[in-house]
Formats: sequence, C-alpha cells, structure tokens
Amino acid sequence: MGRIVALLNQKGGVGKTTVTLGLASAAAAAGHSVLVVDLDPQASSTWALGFDPAEVEVSTAEVLAKADPDSAIVETDWSPLIHLMPASNRLQPREQGKPKRLSAALEKVADRYDAILIDCPPSLGNLTTSGLTAASHAVIVVEPSALGLRGIAAVADVIDEVWDSHNSNLDLAGVIVNKVPGVSGEADRRYDELVRIVGKKAIWQPVIPQRVIVTQAVGERRAIHSYGARSADVSVAFDQLWKKLRRVTRD
Ligand SMILES: Nc1ncnc2c1ncn2[C@@H]1O[C@H](COP(=O)(O)OP(=O)(O)O)[C@@H](O)[C@H]1O
Ligand SMILES: [Mg+2]
Repeated sequence: MGRIVALLNQKGGVGKTTVTLGLASAAAAAGHSVLVVDLDPQASSTWALGFDPAEVEVSTAEVLAKADPDSAIVETDWSPLIHLMPASNRLQPREQGKPKRLSAALEKVADRYDAILIDCPPSLGNLTTSGLTAASHAVIVVEPSALGLRGIAAVADVIDEVWDSHNSNLDLAGVIVNKVPGVSGEADRRYDELVRIVGKKAIWQPVIPQRVIVTQAVGERRAIHSYGARSADVSVAFDQLWKKLRRVTRD
C-alpha cells in the first residue's frame, strides 16, 4: 500500500478540509503530486478546488458503487500536480455500503501519486470507514477547544475497529492541531489536555495558526500558497506538516 492518508474527525468545522487542501497546496509547492479524494457529501474540497458538486458526473459516490476511479479523477486549476476525485450529493446514501470498494479503486491509482489525501465527512459512519479501509495512515484533525477535543476517543475507537475488521495495515499516524489562536489561555489549556489524551509524540508540529487568510483562501477557491507573504506563516506550517507526512508514511 502506498501513502494513502485519511484526515478525519466526526466533528465538523475543525479543519479536515482546510488541512487536506493546505497539505495538497504544500505538496504541489514542493513539486510533489497528490490526489485529493473528497468523501464528504457536502463536497467542500471539491468546491474549493474549482468544481460545482451539482455538475460532477462521476464522483466518489460512483466509485463506491464500483465505477472505474479513472472515470472520476479530474485535473484541477490549482496545479497540474493536484488531482481530485470529487464528491457529489449522491454520496449521502452511500453511508451504507461495502467498505472495501474505495480501497480497491485507490490501489489502482496510488502508484501515480506521492500521496493520496482523503478528506473524510464529519461522521464516523460508513463513508469514514471506507476512507480508513483504503488508508495506510489516519490523521486526526482537532482544534484546541473543549468541543474540539470531545470525541477523540470515539475517533480512535473507529480506527481500532477498522484495523480489526477491514485493514490491518492502518496506522494512526498522529494528530494535527488546527485553528490555534495567537494568545489564548483557554487554547493553551486545551492543548495541554490534548497532550494528556494522545501523548506529546502523537501531535504533529507545527500547529496551524488561526488566520483570516485561511477562510479567505477557501472562499476564493485558491491555494494557500498563492497568497505569498500574506499567508506565509500558514503556508510554512503546511510545508512542514507535508514534510512530516512524507517522513511518517515513508515505508
Ligand atoms: N487555521 C484556520 N484559521 C482560520 N479559519 C480556519 C482555519 N481552519 C479552518 N478554518 C475555517 O473553519 C471552517 C471549517 O473548516 P473546514 O476545513 O471546512 O472544517 P471541516 O472540514 O472539518 O468541517 C471554514 O470556514 C474554514 O475556513
Ligand atoms: Mg470538510
């Protein structure tokens, strides 16, 4: 199995999509190729990468129903190095289904990319199970708030379950902390709590700062690296996390 990384958390709004897209942007900036797989019926990464989910003809929903992965994969305007397997609203009914199908589809194309990044939906249902079954590595995305940390145990349980029943190659690679405010006692306390829950070594460095430019980039459907100096600290954080991802998934 190659480098297939599922980014997950059952909580919405923590930054799964933002981190997936930031890592894709960093990969392309480093000259590496990635496939973004959008497994969220809300199709945020599909939209941000320039596609209208309502107009997508072959999506991850059809791939889960056995369509050829190549019929779904498209090139994006962000970079010739960033390809997308888009989502559509037809994904929702796929919360029931066979978890091995995505795995079989991604295995076919994995050799072409330096990594495949799976943007999971905000649930721990079948779509996330499909993502984890296809993945070599799972990365949990969290934000340092009380609500953001709730449920990490449930995410870890699902990773265990998938490991047991579908994919013994799955590795919990670590935790990416997103939306870290500049100065906040509350965020600091939550970060310490996270260290207690998952252990210091599991937390990838650096953490991603909370910045308006991040929201702006998604709204303008642009790669974070395209903002130059205006997004430099965030881009550098993603560059370092991309390097970490490459190291962690090396073998
Ligand atoms: N580091 C950040 N700084 C500021 N806003 C962020 C950051 N990360 C995410 N956001 C914003 O938070 C919202 C939810 O992020 P998103 O990536 O869609 O979460 P998820 O995919 O987990 O539901 C979006 O509006 C996004 O722009
Ligand atoms: Mg999302």
